[in-house]
Amino acid sequence: MGGIRAAEVSAMTTAHNSKVDAQVSEAQIAVHWREEEYVAPPVSFIGQANAADPAILDRFAEERFPDCFKEYADLLSWDAYWHTTLDTSKPPFWKWFVGGRLNACVNCVDRHLATHANKAAFIWVPEPEAEATLAITYRELYRRVNEFAALLRDWGGVQTGDRVTFHLPMVPELPVAMLACARLGVIHSEVFGGFSGAACGGRVADSGSTILVTMDGYYRNGELIDHKVKADQAVATAAELGHAIDKVLVFRRRSGQYASGSPMVEGRDFFVDDLLPTYRDVVVEPVSMPAEAPLFLMYTSGTTGQPKGCQHSTGGYLSYVAGTSKYYQDIHPTDTYWCCADIGWITGHSYIVYGPLSLGTTSVLYEGVPAYPDAGRVWRICQRLGVNIFHTAPTTIRMLRKLGPDEPAKYDYHLKHMTTVGEPIEPEVWRWYHDVAGKGEAAIVDTWWQTENGGFLGSTLPALQPMKPGSCGPGVLGIYPVIYDEDGQVVEAGSGKAGNICIRNPWPGIFQTIWGQPDRFVHIYYEKYNKHKDSTDWHDWPYFAGDGAVQAADGYFRILGRVDDVINVAGHRLGTKELESACLTVDEVAEAAAVPVIDEVRGRAVEMYVSLKPGLTASKDVEDKVAAAIDTEIGKIARPKHVWIVSDMPKTRSGKIMRRVIAGISNFADVGDVSTLANPEVVADIRHHIQAEKLAHGEAPRQLTPAEAEEIRSFGHAE
Ligand code: WT7
Repeated sequence: MGGIRAAEVSAMTTAHNSKVDAQVSEAQIAVHWREEEYVAPPVSFIGQANAADPAILDRFAEERFPDCFKEYADLLSWDAYWHTTLDTSKPPFWKWFVGGRLNACVNCVDRHLATHANKAAFIWVPEPEAEATLAITYRELYRRVNEFAALLRDWGGVQTGDRVTFHLPMVPELPVAMLACARLGVIHSEVFGGFSGAACGGRVADSGSTILVTMDGYYRNGELIDHKVKADQAVATAAELGHAIDKVLVFRRRSGQYASGSPMVEGRDFFVDDLLPTYRDVVVEPVSMPAEAPLFLMYTSGTTGQPKGCQHSTGGYLSYVAGTSKYYQDIHPTDTYWCCADIGWITGHSYIVYGPLSLGTTSVLYEGVPAYPDAGRVWRICQRLGVNIFHTAPTTIRMLRKLGPDEPAKYDYHLKHMTTVGEPIEPEVWRWYHDVAGKGEAAIVDTWWQTENGGFLGSTLPALQPMKPGSCGPGVLGIYPVIYDEDGQVVEAGSGKAGNICIRNPWPGIFQTIWGQPDRFVHIYYEKYNKHKDSTDWHDWPYFAGDGAVQAADGYFRILGRVDDVINVAGHRLGTKELESACLTVDEVAEAAAVPVIDEVRGRAVEMYVSLKPGLTASKDVEDKVAAAIDTEIGKIARPKHVWIVSDMPKTRSGKIMRRVIAGISNFADVGDVSTLANPEVVADIRHHIQAEKLAHGEAPRQLTPAEAEEIRSFGHAE
């Protein structure tokens, strides 16, 4: 397991000569920056905030753990109240709210009917601007969820505890399907619509779903994309892995019109709109589930091996997203809340569907690309729908800023609250978000967390803790983070040193295990800093997040990025091994290595280096095949910025590819000491060739910040 060498990386707030040369050892390289000034939230925000009384900080102080989380659990409606807040008897498989029973669908839908049945639960905005916006009331949502639950149960034969996989785009059918599963106690697993059929098939096989729910097509960037074709590939990939998908349920984007060129397979593929009329107005009794029953799986990438199916619980997860939505998103039932992300990622599960709906608010769903057809689209949606809470990722903010820096002023919308999530945000980009996009009227929260975590880990309470551009803030309520160095020594706040950020305590939103791989779960997340394997005291089981971070003297964390070989592209995790395995499906390819390059919009982009089998020569054709293989195996989001075919990879004497060397070349950064390589002579060759090509593409080098330089320099150390 890799990690930032904390003691060796000093973070300084003073001016420092950042020039790095090969003579300076890594130990002296600084990750330093200027501390940003605090920004206070608007007074108008404070007056109406859910968490405006500082007493809340005392209620969640460490001495009140774990009972402080009763406050979150009490936001829900329980069928049976729990007797044990936290059961630590089988660490690190924590159990929250033991003895409690509830149904997640009831909490998100049924219980709001008495007070606001005809208020919009979702407002769906199709990508084509001429197509009408669709408001789905809580009552209508209740109907649709029940009908789809009846279909799954009575036609599909699914039972409580079974898994059902969705490969759905951003359409209302997706939350309907999620809530229908939740109603039945069926575990849903949504695979991001942009992933390829093969990637979907692998996840279906891993989860053991026998039903795949998909859609014929959807709009993206002005184009009606054929999506059903991916289901055929998913079925084929699952079959290769020895797993049968029996039924494919196909929603139609436009009722009665089939948007795909792929034929429906008799006896396997069924149009949902053909089946649903049988279940019209049928009501399905919700299944009362134990708090610790799994609610869903969400797959994410790691350094090695297959994507991990993160298993999230019902009671703990739902309590945690309800609580954080209330206090950090400041959601009130009267708000119009828009999280401009995809439900195919954890952000969407927690903060488009489960959190906002458990609080009975109106949540906006947008089908398409934020800047389609132009950079004003997002702001027109805010204006038209009266959105007052807006949530998105730095990659979208950077894109909107680049394409339409002056667009926000043209539209009459007013946000009280904004969120950024998924990657570190540069202070300049933060300021545009605050001053221009938010018109200086909104409180901003920068929320740090991960697929594994269920909900936020680091952020500011928007009315009580000032914002600091580029820092997420302190641990959120009930979360006690710590930074450890490689030896498990605490790196003190304000010490100016970076290290591995960990969470000392369990919390209700933490995932329960990696689906089917409990040992891998313990190994990746808990083994590193666990000193007593047999201890049932949670203090002995810090959660290793896999991110490097620095804590300022005021307790605010600045997240530096992954310490493993995961590349965060536009806020999405791509494992180097997955990328490399995809390249190796191309016959000509002998070896492959993926590295990150600093990208002004997407944060990081991927560059692939491949070497060919003996006797083969480089060609555009092979480059294209490699790019196509990544599209097929993973999906377009992973498409590399460049594919470089090299005669040989720089390697250690033991034959390991030195990713940090090629990462240095791709970023025009220092490649460090190469004298100990088995083949040091290839470095200059590759560098010359690749950097010349990049310059010819207009990719002029820019000076990396010290933090970026350190990231590139340490890339690949995890092996
Ligand atoms: C990784 C998790 C759950 C949110 C969506 C991404 C990075 C996440 C921040 C932030 C700096 C961040 C971390 C983390 N990250 N939020 N506010 N500031 N970095 O979920 O795909 O599981 O990725 O995203 O590196 O480990 P994910």
